[in-house]
Amino acid sequence: MKKIAVLPGDGIGPEVMAEAIKVLDAAQKKFAFELSYEFADVGGIAIDNHGEALPPATLALCENSDAILFGSVGGPKWESLPPQQQPERAALLPLRKHFDLFCNLRPARVFKSLTAACPLRPDIVGEGFDILCMRELTSDIYFGQPKGREGAGPDERAWDTMTYTRAEIERITRIAFETARIRRNKVTSVDKANVLTTMVLWREVVMEVHKEYQDVELTHIYVDNATMQLVRDPHQFDVLLCGNMFGDIISDEAAMLTGSMGLLASASLNANKFGLYEPAGGSAPDIAGQGIANPIAQILSAAMMLRYSFGLDEAAAAIDSAVESVLDKGIYTKDIAIDKSKAVGTAAMGDAIVAAL
Ligand code: NAD
Ligand code: IPM
Ligand code: MN
Repeated sequence: MKKIAVLPGDGIGPEVMAEAIKVLDAAQKKFAFELSYEFADVGGIAIDNHGEALPPATLALCENSDAILFGSVGGPKWESLPPQQQPERAALLPLRKHFDLFCNLRPARVFKSLTAACPLRPDIVGEGFDILCMRELTSDIYFGQPKGREGAGPDERAWDTMTYTRAEIERITRIAFETARIRRNKVTSVDKANVLTTMVLWREVVMEVHKEYQDVELTHIYVDNATMQLVRDPHQFDVLLCGNMFGDIISDEAAMLTGSMGLLASASLNANKFGLYEPAGGSAPDIAGQGIANPIAQILSAAMMLRYSFGLDEAAAAIDSAVESVLDKGIYTKDIAIDKSKAVGTAAMGDAIVAAL
């Protein structure tokens, strides 16, 4: 019996989480494995109910679980709090750091039936593309010290520190090459080595690690060019290796190229394969509470949990296929439907995926 810490969070988080649980329940029946869920508050709802975004009881539950299934946190209600207390900075980033979840996988694959939902021209999309954004998740300008703010008036200033150690770059780079070997054997490392000293080290270390993986094709690309190339010709990419901040930006772009933010799943793993699984998108305050959010990113994140944390590859693949077959049948939520009047809601999409499973 595997124990899952379920943290739905804010906005659409609880809505899409309910569908992921439905699908996990169905997968357990079909593939004869057992999960136990324990729910806890995180983010804005935890601030409201317990006075802090990551209550000690929530962290303790995560520590005593085999994996964390996470929804999303944040929203307008908590945006006026001091930055250090806001859900993103006080819950999500500390969770990533606490469990050393340095390896963030965000697979951006265009489903065949969704090529029309891709905002690119049909001749560019072709039959679709398959990119794996691999984002370093526990360092860079997100966590670098010092950070600060001082003064007042026109001289008031604020600063963050972009930093990487050789060891931090090495460990994510190694996984990028290993992963490329079981995909299309190509790594594109995204940096800004023409301007940033941190990124000079990044590129040097990537090149050094590459000496051990000469069979894998390596290309370096500046981040500004990378964002452009993604819309010009996404087919050129296999594994996109990025630091924390560039990976954040690039993965939203890649998500939208697949048709919607609501499709992009993610796994955040540490060296022991302990993982937090969450959609790459956020709490989507603009659609929260309407029952229209796309639950697919959350459902595919749950499938990644089965695959990476529990080695339940068959069940994970079955969930992936169920999602694909529902899309093939033309069952779409509003974000991916071309004819919005025919769109189904969050729960109907979850039910359809359960039925296909
Ligand atoms: P967002 O990802 O929440 O939303 C961006 C756009 O994508 C919105 O139009 C939204 O409706 C759409 N979208 C996202 N997920 C969708 C889904 N499942 N189905 C259909 N449409 C979907 O980004 P934002 O608006 O910049 O951020 C909103 C809040 O979420 C902020 O507080 C932000 O900090 C937070 N956030 C949290 C996480 C997380 O918890 N992992 C990630 C990103 C943003
Ligand atoms: C993501 C989110 C987070 C990030 C925020 C909410 C802290 O945008 O997971 O992509 O920037 O990493
Ligand atoms: Mn992001």
